[in-house]
This record gives sequence, C-alpha cells and structure tokens, in this order.
Amino acid sequence: AAGDAVELPEQEWSFDGVFGTYDKASMQRGFQVYQKVCSACHSLDLIAFRNLTDLGYNEDEIKAIAAEYTVEDGPNDEGEMFERAGSASDRFPAPFPNEKAAASANGGKAPPDLSLMAKARVGGPDYLYGLLTGYEDAPADIDVGNLSYNKYFPGHLISMSPPLFGDDVEYGDGTEATVEQMATDVSHFLMWAAEPKLEARKQTGVKVMIFLIIFTLIMYAAKRKAFAKVH
Ligand code: HEM
Repeated sequence: AAGDAVELPEQEWSFDGVFGTYDKASMQRGFQVYQKVCSACHSLDLIAFRNLTDLGYNEDEIKAIAAEYTVEDGPNDEGEMFERAGSASDRFPAPFPNEKAAASANGGKAPPDLSLMAKARVGGPDYLYGLLTGYEDAPADIDVGNLSYNKYFPGHLISMSPPLFGDDVEYGDGTEATVEQMATDVSHFLMWAAEPKLEARKQTGVKVMIFLIIFTLIMYAAKRKAFAKVH
C-alpha cells in the first residue's frame, strides 16, 4: 500500500568485502557532484581540503581547490571576523551560517550535514544511491504538498527536491553524467568522507587473519612435538 517501506536494492561497490578499496576516479567525480550540486544546501563539516589527498589530488591541486572557496576567519586584532581565500587546512565552508537559516531556506527543514551520512542511515551508500534515484510521482491518494515523493525515504515525503536531473556536472574524465552515474559517484565520495580509514581497517583485518592462521599452525606443530612422547 502507499506509504509502505520499499526494499532497498543493493549496489556493487569497490569498497565491499574484505579486500575492498575505494575507486579514486569515482570519488573525484563524486566530489565534483558534491561541489556543483549538494554543497548548495549541505555542509561537509568534518572534511578539510587536505583530506582530498585520499582522492588522488596532489598538494598543488588541493591548494587550488581550497583557494576557490571563501572562508570566514578571525577575530583579528580589531576583534572582527574577516573573509579570506581557503587554504589546505580549512574545512569545507557550510552553505548556511546556522541551522535556522538552513531550515528557513529549505521550507522549514535544514539539510543535514553529509560528513557521516553514509554511515548514519540503514543501508549506508545503498541508501544514498536509492534516495538520489528514488524520486517518482506520488500515488494518486497522496497529496505531497510542497514536498517530493521518494520511494526510499522513510515516510516517502521529503523536503529535498530531486537534486539530480542528468548532465548536472561535466565530468573532468569524460564519463557521461547520468543520474545513476552521479548518484553512484557521490555516494562513493560520501562513503569515503564517512570512513576515510576503511582501506587501512580492512588491510589490518586481513593481516590479523593471516597471523592467526599461521600462529594456529605453529602452535599445533609445537603441541604435536611437545606431546610426541606422551602415551
Ligand atoms: C536531506 C543527500 C542535494 C536539501 C538529504 C539527505 C541526504 C541528502 C542523504 C538525508 C535523507 C534522510 O534523512 O534520510 C544529498 C545529496 C545531494 C543533495 C547527495 C547532491 C547530489 C540537495 C540540495 C538541496 C538539498 C541541492 C537543496 C536545494 C535537502 C533537505 C533535506 C535533505 C532540505 C532534508 C529532507 C527531509 O528531511 O525531509 N539530502 N542532497 N539537498 N536535503 Fe539533500
């Protein structure tokens, strides 16, 4: 029936599984989508420009990216706040000065910070992908008012209008910017933002497993040897 939860399809991600890794090209494209589309409404408070080295950018590229932003700094010697160009150690500036301004610019509902969003919702990156591709016409018996109908949003009525239409960005690597492609890439990017240490964590897990297997074999051999003469 209308209003029921819809099962969330699982997507294939390069970061799935014990040997999973991030795809830098996809993250760079996803970052383009965040910059061009999402950042108009959503902050990314926990990410500093220099963290973008994980995406494969070098120091000069990061300086250039940061310098395109204006950040607030201060107070200076006169006790005033001032604006300056961003530098590598700055975090991404938020689109709104505070929660209230964010809410009033968005029909009463503030767009949440996206830093940890890929881990904050059931389904993680699958949910982000679903949300971004899940807009559809509401069933006839539902009056959406000034909200939008989304298959995968709990309750379906969401105050975020469909953010992606296709060709919203021109990808630097020439990839075709379909809605599905942009949804995939920005979800990949946001997964990295929420868990930048995923690769290291998985590699440690694999090393620990290998260690435990070898350790078990050695202990078994030692036990056999130690008890060889016991009848
Ligand atoms: C909510 C992602 C673009 C306004 C959300 C949520 C996510 C998200 C994950 C949380 C949904 C939930 O609570 O389960 C994105 C991404 C974007 C994007 C990845 C870019 C591709 C935008 C834009 C706007 C916007 C451009 C403003 C024009 C909102 C608002 C909410 C929201 C107002 C709160 C919705 C509600 O709770 O009803 N967005 N968003 N978003 N977003 Fe976006």
